[in-house]
Amino acid sequence: MRLFVAIDSPPWVKKKLALAQNLLPSGVRKVEAGNLHITLKFLGEVTLKKIPSIEQRLGAIDQEDFEIKVRDVGAFPNEEYVRVVWAGCKGAGLKKLAEKVDIALKEYPKEEFTGHITIARVAGKAPLRGFFQDYRDFMFGYFNARKFLLMASELTSSGPKYSVLAEFPLRGAKL
Ligand code: 2AM
Repeated sequence: MRLFVAIDSPPWVKKKLALAQNLLPSGVRKVEAGNLHITLKFLGEVTLKKIPSIEQRLGAIDQEDFEIKVRDVGAFPNEEYVRVVWAGCKGAGLKKLAEKVDIALKEYPKEEFTGHITIARVAGKAPLRGFFQDYRDFMFGYFNARKFLLMASELTSSGPKYSVLAEFPLRGAKL
C-alpha cells in the first residue's frame, strides 16, 4: 500500500485553487478538489503490518496548531520544463511539522521538503508561461492547520485515489 503523510486544505483555499486551475491550458491534468493537499512526507510502498507503528509514532508528535499561507505558483522541476504545477505553502509551523514527521519516520526515503499543493500534472509540453505570470505571488489564502493525516494512495486507470487512514490532531486545535 502506498502511503504518505499530508495536511488537507480547507474549502475556501480549494475554491481559489479551482479558479486558478480553470485558467490552465488544455492538455494539463488538473488535480481534483478532494486531492488538493500538502504532502509532508511520501513513504512509498508499506506493508500492512507496519501501519500500527507508523500511526503510533505520528500520534506521539507534539506540536501546536499553526498558520499556513498559500501563495504564489511554481513548477517542478522548473517553469521551463513542467511536470507539476503547484501553489506554494509557507509557515514556520509547517516546516517544523515536516521535520518532525521526517524524524519520526526516518527509515523512509527523505526528500527535501518544499511546502506546496500540487494543482496539476503535465505529461508533455504545455503553454504555461502566461499562467505563471498571472498568478505570480497570488494570495490563495491563509488557514490554520489543526490536524495532519496518514493517507493511502491507490493508483487507478483514472488517476490516484487517496483515502485517509488516520487523523492526528495538533495541540490546542479544536477539531
Ligand atoms: P505532490 O505532493 O507533489 O502532489 C501521493 O502520491 C502524494 O505524495 C502526492 O501528493 C505526491 O506529490 C507526493 N509525493 C512526494 N514524493 C513522491 C514520490 N517520490 N512519488 C510519488 N508521490 C510522491
